[in-house]
Amino acid sequence: FGDPGWDLSGINDMAALEEKVKTCNRCGLRAGCQGVVFGEGNPAAKVVLCGEGPGADEDRLGRPFVGKAGQLLDKILEACGFGRFEHVYILNTVKCRPPGNRIPTEEERAACRPNLEAQLRILQPRIMVLLGATALQAVLDSRGRITRDRGRWVEKNGVWIMPTYHPAALLRNPNLKKDTWEDFKQVVAKYRELVDPNH
Ligand code: URA
Repeated sequence: FGDPGWDLSGINDMAALEEKVKTCNRCGLRAGCQGVVFGEGNPAAKVVLCGEGPGADEDRLGRPFVGKAGQLLDKILEACGFGRFEHVYILNTVKCRPPGNRIPTEEERAACRPNLEAQLRILQPRIMVLLGATALQAVLDSRGRITRDRGRWVEKNGVWIMPTYHPAALLRNPNLKKDTWEDFKQVVAKYRELVDPNH
């Protein structure tokens, strides 16, 4: 993907980046979906949540985490006192829906990586929550395992990163909710420490 036309380095705000990324055609996913799901939230937010990739509902509506998993994520955010458009920015490892919601391939992730990197360069989060193994592997550790790595902070270039379960995993296995809530409580504590002691 040495695509010379795909230079995002001169783009310095989220609106301009979104416009550009909406034209992305760097892997096979775009041809099989309805559109690019760039992400949403407060571009000035200090907390970024990263999922895997859009599902059917997200693809249809062009917004991240708006299906069943997204509704559960909204409940978790609410319990944390985080507003989707106020305290956080929500995005995905890949911006286009993989067919049948399969895990995006190595190639697809690599093709979308400059989009994710440009988002993070502009957003400059203090805290990142990685929802599930795909995000963990894309952002932190290509050999990461969520059951092993969740619940523990990793600090990388001044960003505090917390891997936790994907909300879709909680829907399949409600026993994971308790651990996930512990992880989000750590996120709220870190938010108080780094961003707003009064939260
Ligand atoms: N699952 C994800 O990983 N991302 C979404 O946007 C929706 C469901």
